[in-house]
Amino acid sequence: MSEVQRGEYLLVRNIAESERLERQYKAWQANIGYLLHPSIKQHDRMRIADVGTGTGIWLRDLASVLPTTCQLDGFDLSGVMFPPKDTLPENITFHLQNLLEPFPEEYLGEYDVVNVRIMVVALSHDEWEPAVRNLMTLLKPGGYLQWVDCAAHECVVKGEPEGKQATNARHGLDLFRRTLISLGKTPNVAALRGTFQNSGLESCEERIYTLDNPDTREDINLTVAVVIQHVLTAASKTHKLDEIPSVDQLTTLREAMLSDFHSLGCYFCFDVYVVVGRKP
Ligand SMILES: C[S@@+](CC[C@H](N)C(=O)[O-])C[C@H]1O[C@@H](n2cnc3c(N)ncnc32)[C@H](O)[C@@H]1O
Repeated sequence: MSEVQRGEYLLVRNIAESERLERQYKAWQANIGYLLHPSIKQHDRMRIADVGTGTGIWLRDLASVLPTTCQLDGFDLSGVMFPPKDTLPENITFHLQNLLEPFPEEYLGEYDVVNVRIMVVALSHDEWEPAVRNLMTLLKPGGYLQWVDCAAHECVVKGEPEGKQATNARHGLDLFRRTLISLGKTPNVAALRGTFQNSGLESCEERIYTLDNPDTREDINLTVAVVIQHVLTAASKTHKLDEIPSVDQLTTLREAMLSDFHSLGCYFCFDVYVVVGRKP
């Protein structure tokens, strides 16, 4: 197998993925219930960065509840999923930036909050601590790093009726898990709070949300089935992996997984972690 590049992103970036990210965002938010962790004190001149912002959905949601005097900056390695500027509130700006590289001087020490969501298929094992340390350079003293993520390889199928198995969903998940393992995208998200502490953040807290709310099951099933398809598609473009099906087979697999959920009433389930820490 070809080697994983530093910071290699194991997902596609296109309209289908933008739609998936927005659906996923709403389903996760319905389980989490807040945009900013309750420990984070809010005021009307906050400057907030969202790093790995994608479609900027979290920032756009935040802009609708914070005063317009707050300044909101989205950073991403790619601008492909940024929304058009004329659809955005004036206090949101997007910038291109690799979170593993030093940020330009003008942003250092400027932020009350730095938010990161879902780097699970972007960062390899050894890149989490350098990422935390680099993101800390953006914070003012007293500013918070908030990181929301999951261990995708720990996703399971739940709710199968006695004596029946969601064979396609289990097969897709197994293929997905083996691909993530072989490409080193299996973060120990449970260790993130410790990484915050080792990097010098204080008052570090972790909250865990198990995504098994019946109201969001259908959206979670759909977004996981599609992420399996998108991750395997991205992996097959840059790596020689014998087991990955063709593009057509991946579409068939996605539909077969969803059909298992409809016929058996079962669901994908995993934990989402919210970790916060304050810069001294
Ligand atoms: C799974 S998406 C999550 C997007 C958004 N945070 C959300 O919750 O919907 C991950 C995003 O991180 C970006 N990304 C991946 N690697 C990155 C890096 N090294 N630096 C900055 N952004 C990165 C991707 O381009 C993508 O937009």
